[in-house]
Amino acid sequence: MNIFFDYFIYFLKSKSKFGVHSPFVFGFFESVFSVERSKNSQFLPIEEHRKKLLKNDEVIVVEDFGTGKQHRKNTISFIASNSLMKKKYAEMIANLSSHLKPKNILELGTSLGVTTLYLSFSNSDSKILTIEGSAEIAKIAKSSFEKFKSKNIEIVQGNFDDILESRLQKMDSVDMVIFDGNHTKSATIRYFETCLKYINNDTVLIFDDIRWSKDMKEAWKQIVQNELTVITIDLFFMGLVFFRKEQPKEHFQIRF
Ligand SMILES: C[S@@+](CC[C@H](N)C(=O)[O-])C[C@H]1O[C@@H](n2cnc3c(N)ncnc32)[C@H](O)[C@@H]1O
Repeated sequence: MNIFFDYFIYFLKSKSKFGVHSPFVFGFFESVFSVERSKNSQFLPIEEHRKKLLKNDEVIVVEDFGTGKQHRKNTISFIASNSLMKKKYAEMIANLSSHLKPKNILELGTSLGVTTLYLSFSNSDSKILTIEGSAEIAKIAKSSFEKFKSKNIEIVQGNFDDILESRLQKMDSVDMVIFDGNHTKSATIRYFETCLKYINNDTVLIFDDIRWSKDMKEAWKQIVQNELTVITIDLFFMGLVFFRKEQPKEHFQIRF
């Protein structure tokens, strides 16, 4: 019920392109946010692949990082229907990548690698590092990347808590980060603060599921209020964060 109320408030407050006066944000409408109208056939093979994952009844053992490393068995189809980013959002992130042309992208939470493939297809010049904790899930994602002959993806299996900082240190630049793993407030803020040490003026941070729980809503509020964040964009389920010092601090709710 709460989510419907939240959506109602968001709907009333959110702006279409005609209500946005920032040229930087306005520039996203045609090439990034207009995914409903886009006939982006380049992503069709990925959606065909998603359909196959959704029908795959193979059972695998997965570690649950959110609830303390218990192991449980799941079908690939269950993971595909519950963990993967929806097409609309994956396509928007891919469009954002081809618009901003980040050199280095970090994805926290690969799952079966569908969003990673979107990023790889949209911008073959970027280098994508994606981290997944669950060994069996990472293995499936890796074989998908091989099947699609994606040359710009590196997948690393490990817990963000153990390897995030060292992986950030090794990157030439951190230009885009997708936070799509542990959806708790403490973990989200911890990974956000770790990434803050490595950002540059053009970095974009993307947070998925910002209204997934009370905890995540609080994490997003804290990120918006952080003194280093400049432009923040609320797309209801997803939040974008920019650090462009040349702009005034401003928060947008965009109808997406
Ligand atoms: C929502 S899914 C990612 C979906 C993927 N980005 C997509 O859109 O296709 C989140 C993934 O993050 C992984 N994860 C969660 N917490 C983690 C942690 N602390 N370290 C490593 N992986 C983690 C989970 O195993 C899960 O596969």
